[in-house]
Amino acid sequence: MSAGAAGALDFSGKGVFVAGGSSGINLGVARRFAEAGAKVAIFARNPDKLDAARASLGPQALSFRGDVREFDAVQAAIDAAAAAFGGLQVVVSGAAGNFVAPAETISTNGWKAVNEIDALGTFHVFKAAFEPLKASRGSAIAISAPQSVQPMAWQAHVCAAKAGVDKLVECLAMEWGPHGVRVNAISPGPIANTEGMARLAPSPEIEDIVRRTVSLERFGEAREIGDVALFLASPLASYVTGAILPADGGWGLSGAGAATALIAEHFRSTL
Ligand code: COA
Repeated sequence: MSAGAAGALDFSGKGVFVAGGSSGINLGVARRFAEAGAKVAIFARNPDKLDAARASLGPQALSFRGDVREFDAVQAAIDAAAAAFGGLQVVVSGAAGNFVAPAETISTNGWKAVNEIDALGTFHVFKAAFEPLKASRGSAIAISAPQSVQPMAWQAHVCAAKAGVDKLVECLAMEWGPHGVRVNAISPGPIANTEGMARLAPSPEIEDIVRRTVSLERFGEAREIGDVALFLASPLASYVTGAILPADGGWGLSGAGAATALIAEHFRSTL
């Protein structure tokens, strides 16, 4: 990597807020920003996971307990992080909910839980961060999923929620571009050791189906999504906004479609 490119990925002194940052992909993202020198704040529901994650992110890290479905809690955390860090340059919205269920069995509350964590939550996080991002001409990054474009059986609620996230990102990129705020999404494929994959691939057989349908023939690592977030937030991506960037080992090309049929068959057989 050239010295210029390496410098562009140095986030020393920058303030970064990661919603959902206590575990999985989002913790991988938070960790990469911390390694790149940023002051990182994470926001999540589970206090035990939150404490452990913050401790792993170094002495500058902050954590805030809350639910992205509650706007006031999100706003308070973002205001506190911006005050503590002297501003925010990067805001990542990655809190997500998922369960695998046939649509006709999903209750109103179940549908709302997933759609409100993913789509409403992302709206809350980005709306609450608008002023600090405008001040820093910063970067907002949502964590989407292949379900936003690939229909999947037993994932109707998740597909709707993630499609909403993508469309929100595109609209905000248009609205906030004139303020110098870039808004993008990363669409991670199957990532190892995450709650999402534990739910979607709950057996070695399904894990194998997924692995075989990824072009790169392996699961990704959370830190690889963190690397993409670093790029998107950096000056290397200064002309990138409104992008929904797959970081999925090529799974979305055709493998996700092939896998979803096989996975649906597996889940149906468990009925
Ligand atoms: N099948 C059908 N419905 C389900 C379900 C399942 N496997 N799991 C939860 N639900 C329903 C619940 O029954 C409830 O509806 P009800 O009140 O009509 O019974 C509704 O979803 C909300 O569940 P609850 O556990 O009270 O909500 P929550 O807000 O605490 O949790 C979830 C949200 C449901 C998304 C939960 O799975 C969660 O907390 N997930 C976070 C972690 C995660 O999903 N990570 C993966 C991200 S890819």
